[in-house]
Amino acid sequence: MRIDPWASTQYKDYSMLREQFGIQEFKFDMPDPHKLFRRGIIFGHRGFDSVYSAIKEKKKFAVLTGLVPSGPMHLGHKMTMDQVIYYQSLGADVFITVADIEAFGVRGIGFEKAKEIAINDYVANYIALGLKKSQIYFQSKRKNVTDLAYKLGRKTNLSEMRAIYGFNDSTNMTHVFAPLVQVGDILHVQMDEYGGPRPTVVPVGVDQDPHIRFSRDIAAAHRLFNVTETKDKKIGVFVKTDENVDKLLNEAEKKVRNMGYADLKKIPKYKALYMLGASVSDIQKIDESLISVEKKFGGHAFCSPAATYQRLMTGLTGGKMSSSEPGSAIFLSDAPRDAKKKIKNSKTGGAVSLEEQKKHGGKPEECTVYELLLYHLVENDNELEEIYNNCRSGERMCGRCKDFASQLVEEFLKNLKEKSESAKDTLNDYVVDE
Ligand code: TRP
Ligand code: SF4
Repeated sequence: MRIDPWASTQYKDYSMLREQFGIQEFKFDMPDPHKLFRRGIIFGHRGFDSVYSAIKEKKKFAVLTGLVPSGPMHLGHKMTMDQVIYYQSLGADVFITVADIEAFGVRGIGFEKAKEIAINDYVANYIALGLKKSQIYFQSKRKNVTDLAYKLGRKTNLSEMRAIYGFNDSTNMTHVFAPLVQVGDILHVQMDEYGGPRPTVVPVGVDQDPHIRFSRDIAAAHRLFNVTETKDKKIGVFVKTDENVDKLLNEAEKKVRNMGYADLKKIPKYKALYMLGASVSDIQKIDESLISVEKKFGGHAFCSPAATYQRLMTGLTGGKMSSSEPGSAIFLSDAPRDAKKKIKNSKTGGAVSLEEQKKHGGKPEECTVYELLLYHLVENDNELEEIYNNCRSGERMCGRCKDFASQLVEEFLKNLKEKSESAKDTLNDYVVDE
């Protein structure tokens, strides 16, 4: 099985996804966790340990997300923004890319149109949701991103891209280039102009995993050192290039000595520095500290970017939530009346008849209305648990439950609308031209 970032597939079996793709279970004890974390909606991660350490030690870290300006913003998109805003509250530097090159390559949407959609719909709503000052930029305008895409492209090739993305002979070249631009997005935030090397988290749905793996592979390919455990259980720092081997080893030795490691054994013939007092749990720290050494030798040294994976919201009609199917999604620009109509027509986990439901209860885990409450509308965990239990026990009926959700959606949309209207004057503080 291969994940295709541009297909409209729904991936639902999250433990299978974790196993098959090597995504780790998300078990971090986050400070003052947002409900998406409390409720297990963030189900997995790659490399989040580095970000978690930065949060705990109050060090710098970055969060990056992207929007494809091809349709209006819906509640599925809001989920990602909720996380970005949460990370911002923990001190993250926020970057948001408007993926106009991707929108053009994959959907044929011109840059001007993309800009209009991005600013009027997405950015206005981001601010209304509570995003503070951030860097929102356009792929097509940020030369450091496209330059990086060209440079990093040197360490991959067409057959690798085919294997990852399933490209074929008729894939247009802008589309082929789009993943490299996305890697450029993800890694450029660690260039000195944007804050330097530091842990970076990219919150995504699992459909974006190919881009994440690709970014992590490319970041690793550009490192000059590899820190790893050897077969005989020693921690070793290995130089990956053939140039400056002695100098690199000497600098690495100095660096780790400063960190307090004394029992070191350098074997230039193996391009290795063995660290006899170190253990596996030190690898990440050692690896990160060597980045500054690599930079002295002119390397593009990036911390391996991390990702968290969120469950995809089910569409209200039971399929995928998608901009191209208006009945499936609640758009943040929907008039409350329309949103309520969508909820009215939505697929629930209710039984075939009221009697049946009173007898056997409903199935909240198969209900799109419950999902709305779980992901977005009910803040209090006890209240949500009560709703869940009352549904299971047959005390809660779908008609009233839908009314309840409609009421909350109406309040939410009205409130958001007011805020996004008044945000219109501040849009330029957020969007940067380069
Ligand atoms: N491909 C992403 C999407 O479909 C958009 C995107 C572009 C992105 N660059 C990014 C997402 C960098 C995260 C990080 O949604
Ligand atoms: Fe869904 Fe509510 Fe019906 Fe339960 S009662 S199935 S949560 S709509």
